[in-house]
Amino acid sequence: MTTSLSTHADTDTDAHTHVDTGTGHPAPQEFAGRTALVTGAASGIGLEIARRLAEAGAAVVVADHNEQGASDAARALTDAGGRAAAVHVDVTDPDSVRRAVDFGAETFGALHLAVNNAGIAGASAPTGEYGVTDWQRVIDTNLNGVFYSLRFELPQILAAGGGAVVNMSSILGTNGFGGSSAYAAAKHAVVGLTKTTAVEYAARGVRVNAVAPGFIDTPLLKGDTIQRERLVALHPQGRLGTAEEVAELTLFLLSDRASFINGSYHLVDGGYAAR
Ligand code: NAI
Repeated sequence: MTTSLSTHADTDTDAHTHVDTGTGHPAPQEFAGRTALVTGAASGIGLEIARRLAEAGAAVVVADHNEQGASDAARALTDAGGRAAAVHVDVTDPDSVRRAVDFGAETFGALHLAVNNAGIAGASAPTGEYGVTDWQRVIDTNLNGVFYSLRFELPQILAAGGGAVVNMSSILGTNGFGGSSAYAAAKHAVVGLTKTTAVEYAARGVRVNAVAPGFIDTPLLKGDTIQRERLVALHPQGRLGTAEEVAELTLFLLSDRASFINGSYHLVDGGYAAR
């Protein structure tokens, strides 16, 4: 059984209206007064999104099944002057997701924003040889995990009066990739789930979009140097992307600046899909 952890909750609502970025200028507090839940926030893209949201004034629920990583991340955010709370979540378990979402909404009083980002690369094998258990693990995490998250986030976001969601898809949400049938199937399905949810909730003040990164330099890419060079060569810009570049797009889509952007799939891929 999983238990929610409030390992580093700072629920003071008034204490942090500005964050000094170290540049001499206060960061714009675009997300002040909003609470954001980010799954997979202990590492890579999710960690950077959580950091940027906290910097921009959001109270951030740092959710991950890596409890220590989530706790360390939340502590780093609060040490930097932000508001954050860590919570354990296993996105393959609907009860765990429900508890994490409820914990976030209760800790900070409401939930307005969500980034359904937790994901795994999974095994690599041709479809005719793909392990059935490997398949189920990828679908459970990368597809079912996004559904469970939406399932429990949406009622909370509606209760808060509306908000925005970003689901982390991939360039493999529209392209195939040899050896990754489970991953590509899940990421394609996340696009359909995103569009449908957006249609359902648009009139009730919730926008739902999908972000589709090219290959990004995070711990997810564990490949050797040759594998890495192969991946680099697939991007016309001649490099992998960074978590910062994915976070930039994600924060824009969550913000009111993206107020008429809804139900769409947004590449951040260095030209990968344009080839
Ligand atoms: P990462 O491995 O650095 O971070 C993923 C995080 O998700 C980790 O903290 C991990 O503990 C967490 N996680 C995994 N399974 C979980 C579960 N069952 N419950 C809760 N948390 C779980 O990976 P990265 O690169 O930051 O990936 C984030 C998202 O971006 C994933 O959905 C991935 O598919 C997607 N993406 C990544 C790309 C890349 O090249 N790195 C490219 C396109 C999409």
